[in-house]
Amino acid sequence: SAASNSYNNLQVEVRGSVGLVAIHRPAALNALNDETTMELADALQQYDRDSTIGAIVLTGTDRAFAAGADIKEMANRSFVQTRRRNAGAFMDLFLALRSPVIAAVRGYALGGGCELAMACDIVYASEDAQFGLPEVQIGTIPGWGGTQRLLRAVGKAKAMEMILSGRRISAKEAEEWGLVSAIHANDKVVAAALETAGKIASLSQPIVQMAKAAVNAAEDMSLRNGILYERSLFQATFATQDQKEGMTAFVDKRDPKWTNA
Ligand code: CAA
Repeated sequence: SAASNSYNNLQVEVRGSVGLVAIHRPAALNALNDETTMELADALQQYDRDSTIGAIVLTGTDRAFAAGADIKEMANRSFVQTRRRNAGAFMDLFLALRSPVIAAVRGYALGGGCELAMACDIVYASEDAQFGLPEVQIGTIPGWGGTQRLLRAVGKAKAMEMILSGRRISAKEAEEWGLVSAIHANDKVVAAALETAGKIASLSQPIVQMAKAAVNAAEDMSLRNGILYERSLFQATFATQDQKEGMTAFVDKRDPKWTNA
């Protein structure tokens, strides 16, 4: 079933075969409190399990994708409470999502918000988007994968500069450094993400999911094991009807009709 609209901090909507999830806590610049992360996990998982949904767009509001974990909520927590709560574990979900997720970032993507964007598969940014991991400025460090994913996205020198100083970077820098896929006008970035998501969702779901799994393997595996994993998945595509359909349609000079089988 599609995610319902009963969330306190999200607006969700199905657009054709795309699930749109918008973080909506504008008074706090979409700061990610525990309730919001639980709702996000629920909505993303529901869309991921829905066979009529082929891709997901994750966005925020116009001023912020998300300004980080909720500082007011966590400020007075002890080490033991923080450890027991283990809020960041919700990010492990991104290792399990099969559907492609496109982040459409407007405004601030800071701390946990930047980490959330980096966990998505494709990142579109608005011209006024700003990315940063400012945790050191409030006496902590990134805790939702930022030190690991930023390094992989932009390399050690730039990751260290951002993480050790907390400096925010513009959408333009983020694009030049490879953190974002493309920049769009502020009022066009969600539409652009929906358009790309729609194109992806019009393809064969199992094939797109295998492509995503193969790319993600590169973050974790040796080159040799990654290449062997990719080869196994490539060969596995030949067990699908969609591979037969796709190649036959090419040879017959017609459009393929995907059945996700
Ligand atoms: N947590 C809780 N509330 C937040 C918040 C956050 N991360 N970010 C913004 N808000 C709240 C503000 O407290 C303010 O609320 P009130 O109106 O009740 O005072 C409201 O959102 C608007 O924010 P500002 O008045 O600060 O807006 P601004 O335009 O002056 O500044 C900003 C915007 C630069 C983004 C600034 O809000 C800011 O620096 N926010 C914090 C950014 C940050 O440090 N993020 C990292 C959090 S730690 C983390 O994420 C850990 C991790 O790795 C998981």
